[in-house]
Amino acid sequence: MKVITAKSAGFCFGVKKAVDTVYEEIEKGGRIYTYGEIIHNELVVEDLEKKGVTVLNSVEELNEIEEGTVIIRSHGVSKDIYELLEEKKGIRVVDATCPFVLKIHKIVSEESKKGRHIIIVGSSDHPEVKGIIGFAGDSVSCIQTEKEAEEFLPESGKSVSVVAQTTFNLHKFNNIVEILKKKCYDVHTVNTICNATEQRQTEALEIASQVDAMVVIGGKNSSNTRKLYEICSERCADTRFIQTVDDLVNESLKGVKCIGITAGASTPNYIIEEVQKHVRGTDF
Ligand code: F3S
Repeated sequence: MKVITAKSAGFCFGVKKAVDTVYEEIEKGGRIYTYGEIIHNELVVEDLEKKGVTVLNSVEELNEIEEGTVIIRSHGVSKDIYELLEEKKGIRVVDATCPFVLKIHKIVSEESKKGRHIIIVGSSDHPEVKGIIGFAGDSVSCIQTEKEAEEFLPESGKSVSVVAQTTFNLHKFNNIVEILKKKCYDVHTVNTICNATEQRQTEALEIASQVDAMVVIGGKNSSNTRKLYEICSERCADTRFIQTVDDLVNESLKGVKCIGITAGASTPNYIIEEVQKHVRGTDF
């Protein structure tokens, strides 16, 4: 059996760094908290809980603690949270914000100091966007759809700077920017979309085109994994969506000579390795 595993399968660089940071901090000992779940994967969060890591879900919960280490996840947090953490002298802060997100914080903070209105193209409910808003000063808007861009009322004479949530769809971002350019004066755009997702999808498509069967690993509710599954199914009729190796155990891979493996953004490496081991070790 020939097995081709996508290099971009699973965690992106920023998420890997954040998850690794938590495990490194566990080794060091002491009370450990993450501000929000480090990743949207139940297995990982449960494992961390077993190892004594507590998830803080709100500012109130953060306010209640007086000592220990707080790890900031890859999405980042707003300036207020950094300030609150600084006030708490007994707390050690380990910042695992993805460098690409930190770059957006820097851009919006500088652009806002120049007196420009900041527009973040993304979902205002998303923690990453909430964090960015916290660095953008008082003159900031969040736009998610072309319709919202059409309805946007610019302040007269005010220049505008536009950034994007890292996981925003590029095509939609370009459409929104085009609409804003027609409505606003002096629009400065920085495309801050991260290409980790696009790379994962492109590689999955390439692999699915060369194999007899394709395995896509990820959570049932993970939208980026579903998207990977759809992309692979277009090229490889025998594409299987699994959560863990257990879902493959009773499946027949008869006649499959070459198999491809990829995984969604929140799938840990050890799950990918278990699947790899299973398909290599199975006698067909
Ligand atoms: Fe991941 Fe950072 Fe990009 S968290 S998706 S590498 S912005």
